[in-house]
Amino acid sequence: MIKMKKIGVLCSGGDAPGMNAALRAVVRRGIAKKLKIIAIYRGFDGIFQEYFEEMTARSVGDIVQRGGTIIKTARCEKFFIDEGVREAAEILKKHNFDGLCALGGDGTFKGLLALQKHWNGQLIGIPTTIDNDVYGTDYTVGFDTAIDTAIQALDKIRDTAESHERIFIVEVMGRESGYIALEVGIGAGAEEILIPEEAPVDFAALANRLRSARERGKKSIIIVVAEGADERDIFTFSKELMKYLDVKTYLSILGHVQRGGAPSALDRWLATRLGAFSVDCFLNGDTGIMVGEQNHQLVKVPLIETQKKKPIEKYAFSLIQDLAI
Ligand code: F6P
Repeated sequence: MIKMKKIGVLCSGGDAPGMNAALRAVVRRGIAKKLKIIAIYRGFDGIFQEYFEEMTARSVGDIVQRGGTIIKTARCEKFFIDEGVREAAEILKKHNFDGLCALGGDGTFKGLLALQKHWNGQLIGIPTTIDNDVYGTDYTVGFDTAIDTAIQALDKIRDTAESHERIFIVEVMGRESGYIALEVGIGAGAEEILIPEEAPVDFAALANRLRSARERGKKSIIIVVAEGADERDIFTFSKELMKYLDVKTYLSILGHVQRGGAPSALDRWLATRLGAFSVDCFLNGDTGIMVGEQNHQLVKVPLIETQKKKPIEKYAFSLIQDLAI
């Protein structure tokens, strides 16, 4: 009798809209291709807790449209230390897993690389994070939905800012990356976009530009700030900026609302193709890779590549001042 390959699937790091769509594709394509697909709940933590459940086609019914992840996710401290990773490898061996599919971002893939040193099962990553900061793929699952959510919020803030002629600071997610801030800021016509890639912030220059915008007759001003754009928290940041200005600024933190909600059509499309493709890669014997998309084509990227810093589009960033004249 031919032994069925047993593949574990988990979600790790911040959840992202479309994770469920990817999971559904892994499970159904896997079952269709005669694989045994085991959900590992709560990310890498679930390996230590041996929190496993064999998936059936029905386990992933009615989830393609749902935000979050039905198998839960976590950030696992134990995976930062070699001893922890070794222990996880032993558990995977004990349960006869042949492969592991991890949905997450660059931190998750770092975990897979660490696991590779102690376990010879197949390891494949699927890029799912609202931050879009994974090198080797043009887009990550969740980004499109997140920027749509944030842009709707910004349009609403613009209405009230324009009516009251106010300056708004709006914090969006992105501790390490300015992708959300840049695309959302450009799309919402923000006057300023501050991102970690361009840190530190020059407060005097920023205040001068804001004053000049007022002098040019701008009624409302929106400054989009990525979480990681300044080392200070956003409250201290706002207070600091006010020291340089003679007018009050208003602060709005979009926060975790950006991580929730039903995935957009684009995210479902990407998630489904990447999920199914990961199964094809397992069957092909691939390991140590992330599946991704480049120029609308599905690609395999060595996991080590995903640890490079993905640059933001400098051209778009260079347009901000001109678009805000
Ligand atoms: O998932 C990525 C992300 O949303 C970042 O943009 C953000 O900085 C971080 O996660 C927040 O994580 P947590 O919810 O664990 O505080």
